[in-house]
Amino acid sequence: MKKTITSNDLKNLVNEAHAQVKDLKGGKNANYIPFLDKIDSNLFGISVCLPSGEVIEAGDTNYVFGIESVSKVYTAILVLRQYGAQAVLDKIGADATGLPFNSIMAILLENDHPSTPLVNAGAISADSMVKPVGNSEAKWKAITDNMRELSGSDLKLLDELYKSESETNFNNRSIAWLLKNFNRIYDDPNMSLDLYTRQCSMGVTAKQLSIAACTIANNGLNPVTKQQVFDPSLSPKITSLIATVGFYEHTGDWLYTSGVPAKSGVGGGVLGVVPGLFGIAAFAPPLDEAGNSVKAQAAIKYIAQKLNVNVFGGDHVEVIN
Ligand code: DON
Repeated sequence: MKKTITSNDLKNLVNEAHAQVKDLKGGKNANYIPFLDKIDSNLFGISVCLPSGEVIEAGDTNYVFGIESVSKVYTAILVLRQYGAQAVLDKIGADATGLPFNSIMAILLENDHPSTPLVNAGAISADSMVKPVGNSEAKWKAITDNMRELSGSDLKLLDELYKSESETNFNNRSIAWLLKNFNRIYDDPNMSLDLYTRQCSMGVTAKQLSIAACTIANNGLNPVTKQQVFDPSLSPKITSLIATVGFYEHTGDWLYTSGVPAKSGVGGGVLGVVPGLFGIAAFAPPLDEAGNSVKAQAAIKYIAQKLNVNVFGGDHVEVIN
């Protein structure tokens, strides 16, 4: 069914979702990275960005939190921009692992077939691919420029988070060297790991995430800066990567119940894409046992269900002023 709503209706719905979800209990801050354990668990924000460039916000949408695994979407886009869709499929892959984000088992099981840039192993591979290969400083500039272009403003490194992650990333160190063993890393493993750790330690707001999400929903055109950030043909590729593995081993359950391709991070952020309609982001630190924000999931589901938007069906919604 076709349905037209005003941006004011959407504003009311975003406020309603915030009010409904804000007292939801359950979940715990990530504690395997000490910095994340200390963040106020009551923070909660929802931001929706429309292709018109309008951003609708409720709650703590300007609080800067650790982007963590949502950064995997950004670097996946960067290597898609630099290499094209086929090379990313060949060098990393686009399969769901069905296993936790930091799984070593997944690498062993798929040793003849890479997985996806949206789990730790594939994300470290993606960082190794970033051009110019061999030059850490220039690679970091490419990563952060791409983040700015997608979000419409600079993201800033959270030094304390970077230190905290670097001091505790033993599992990821094993992943980087195991990838080397299977010829699935395309630059120095330690450098690739450090770039991955740094990109996860970038500070972002829910508002910035929603703008990046809308850039994906809007075929690569940033709705706020009006820059064509990536080729429109890459948009469905990015959304399909997000849809297949955005919630790791709970991706199927998430898609089945929400209908919204979305990517989570242990900092409490979730970025969701409804192609052609909007980008949505929510942030709240307490996570379920798979590492996905409890309130962010509930808020996105609430809004999607009330609008009846779903990439597998649902209504065709248009938002007017
Ligand atoms: O690699 C890690 O452990 C973190 N820097 C990121 C993990 C993460 O956000 C997983 N997502 N839910």
